[in-house]
Amino acid sequence: SPSDPDLVERARAAKEKLGDKVFVLGHHYQRDEVIQFADVTGDSFKLARDAAARPEAEYIVFCGVHFMAESADILTSDDQKVVLPDLAAGCSMADMATAEQVAECWDVLTEAGVAEQVVPVSYMNSSADIKAFTGKHGGLICTSSNAKRALEWAFEQGEKVLFLPDQHLGRNTAVRDMGLSLDDCVLYNPHKPNGGLTAEQLRDAKMILWRGHCSVHGRFSLESVEDVRARIPGVNVLVHPECKHEVVAAADQVGSTEYIIKALEAAPAGSKWAIGTELNLVRRLANRFAPEGKEIVFLDKTVCFCSTMNRIDLPHLVWALESLAEGKLVNRIEVDKETEAFAKLALERMLALP
Ligand code: 13P
Ligand code: SF4
Repeated sequence: SPSDPDLVERARAAKEKLGDKVFVLGHHYQRDEVIQFADVTGDSFKLARDAAARPEAEYIVFCGVHFMAESADILTSDDQKVVLPDLAAGCSMADMATAEQVAECWDVLTEAGVAEQVVPVSYMNSSADIKAFTGKHGGLICTSSNAKRALEWAFEQGEKVLFLPDQHLGRNTAVRDMGLSLDDCVLYNPHKPNGGLTAEQLRDAKMILWRGHCSVHGRFSLESVEDVRARIPGVNVLVHPECKHEVVAAADQVGSTEYIIKALEAAPAGSKWAIGTELNLVRRLANRFAPEGKEIVFLDKTVCFCSTMNRIDLPHLVWALESLAEGKLVNRIEVDKETEAFAKLALERMLALP
């Protein structure tokens, strides 16, 4: 829907008043009405890297979800303030691994006698606490655009990986990119005693996958892929690696949001695409590429927006920008110093990957 012209004008005016004092970052899943005000757009890797690109900006307004704002705070200087326009913009996947659960998991691994061989690899979509745990235990962070290189690095440091919290990205990367088999992976369920695993299973496993998933991407099914292939002959199926393994295995291409955009930019006129990722992005791409004769459809019409990404709307952005323009700091996301130090270690190991 078109954005309210009044609010557009207010956002523009507040941003102009703030000038270089504000830097607005926007994830690709954000609404059109919000993304138009982003100074930089990107996938979660690019936004983590670019957060530090404007050290003179006093305020970083993060149009995305909570864990991204935390990561931006960790990677920017102490006097830069990160603002999340709606504090309810969390991520259900990140919430699936708490610090207590992960500490308990480490005890289970220690008791099974495997902890010393385990390197934790945590998906960016995790809280700062989980990132700190990861850094403390010699591990690193990954995103969907560098998960393969992160796993390669981790398997150089140890024999086993504990992958948090997205089982699908972990499994897909292990099997597609690392040549591991499904039998090399076990699923640790934080709601069961000992994760629902025996010590023997833990000793035999190469990948210990945390039982977390994305509530949006988890809804694409093998059926959606088969249906779209039957409906649109010659269609290219391109999905995000947060989708289930069977969906990824049946797709033609797999990649992060930035990868998806690049693939469509490079696609020839007349090509047809079914995209399995968040709806705001797919709609924007369908509109953008329609004039070039590229047909882009959403992989499964029953899947909807990421509700927490959508919490950031134009009214919240206007409120945040106008407050900052009046010198009022609102919705600051600040990670405590000790957590920050270890989380930064894990993030910097990712940023240093070749
Ligand atoms: P990317 O933008 O890194 O592909 O991540 C997708 C996502 O789910 C962010 O929450
Ligand atoms: Fe979290 Fe999934 Fe939304 Fe990304 S799309 S923010 S992983 S719930």
